[in-house]
Amino acid sequence: MYEYVPGLAGVPATKSKISYIDGEKGLLSYRGYPIDALTENSTFEETASLLLNGELPTKQGLDEFDRGLRLNRKMKYRVRELMHQLPSTAHPMDVLQAMVGCLGMFYPEQEDEDGPNSASLNSANQTSISIIARMPTLIAMWEHLRNGYDPVEPREDLSHAANFLWMLTGKEPDPFLAHILDVCLVLHAEHTINASTFAVMVSGSTLANPYAVVASGVATLAGPLHGGANQAVISMLEEIGTAEKAAAYVEAQLSARKKVWGFGHREYSTKDPRARILEKLMRQLVEYRSGEVGPLFNIALAVEDAATERLATKGIYPNVDFYSGVLYREMGIVPDQFTALFAMARVAGWLAHWKEQLADNRIFRPTQIYIGEMDRKYVPVEQRDR
Ligand code: COA
Repeated sequence: MYEYVPGLAGVPATKSKISYIDGEKGLLSYRGYPIDALTENSTFEETASLLLNGELPTKQGLDEFDRGLRLNRKMKYRVRELMHQLPSTAHPMDVLQAMVGCLGMFYPEQEDEDGPNSASLNSANQTSISIIARMPTLIAMWEHLRNGYDPVEPREDLSHAANFLWMLTGKEPDPFLAHILDVCLVLHAEHTINASTFAVMVSGSTLANPYAVVASGVATLAGPLHGGANQAVISMLEEIGTAEKAAAYVEAQLSARKKVWGFGHREYSTKDPRARILEKLMRQLVEYRSGEVGPLFNIALAVEDAATERLATKGIYPNVDFYSGVLYREMGIVPDQFTALFAMARVAGWLAHWKEQLADNRIFRPTQIYIGEMDRKYVPVEQRDR
């Protein structure tokens, strides 16, 4: 009766106006604007507004959106108290998932006729700003708290990216690094109906509260087959150690039928356009630092060459996670925070899909093909021999 497609590969689960991928040509656009144009000209703040509202904002619209983000960065004291109770060994993505969910209790949506905990399109923009603004604060707070220090208070005079670097390091952010981070945020902000966005849409379709909806996105992004791959890439590059050992490592992995992290994508049969832009950014950073960068970039280039030689015939090339971690490492960010940075950007896309889902909602309820047994006879426990 039904065709079962594992992983729903190629099965359309929605209609969307938010982003578009041409996997053969390696193209990505948000709301019709090519990703190259956005990374060259836009900012994360403007891109988030574009994703949420469908149009590039006017100067006044952008100022208001940006101001909303700046004013919502602060965190109530009790959120910090709560975070303080978490074990210092907790992974940042587990902390982020728990704390984003908790924010819904501290910053509830305005009550409307559907009740206090329901999703509401009326307050969707305000709620989106509240969540997007506070994700960086949560991530930076955890970095300090888990190391036994007080968090650094957010500042209103800095951009989204620069303020994050400020909160993370407590030092005046380097404008070039803030620019690189800003481009990374634009690049990670949206990517059609991937696993975490689908999770957001499914939970959003039940009219669950948006903080819980975003928590489901964070949970889904955390796995190494999705956003967690950026941390796995750095572990792989560190394990390889030198560029000369890259080819042998790739050979050994593939012979053992293991994956090369940061390679492959369900949608792209060519190099992910985001990997191309991130590689270019890394080259700019090398130039900015007059070549004074760590060894990981050269190892990554060698892995790309070796893996492409073996995997290109299968349409497997570097994806977004391949170079992002190398850049973050150069910014002094610790690897287990990489996926949280991904979430801090992707939250804009998640909320755009949440809004789009609510505007024409029908609860997700797919079907299954039952392959278990039928009509079994119940045996009392004392008569069972196994
Ligand atoms: N390294 C080596 N082989 C890979 C590979 C990789 N990174 N990614 C896919 N393949 C191979 C698989 O082994 C499989 O080979 P086979 O047909 O001979 O069995 C084939 O390509 C299809 O892979 P599959 O895992 O079924 O593709 P998918 O579309 O279900 O999964 C990913 C896509 C992204 C999950 C997958 O490519 C992957 O696991 N990549 C590594 C993790 C990663 O970087 N994730 C971040 C994505 S942005």
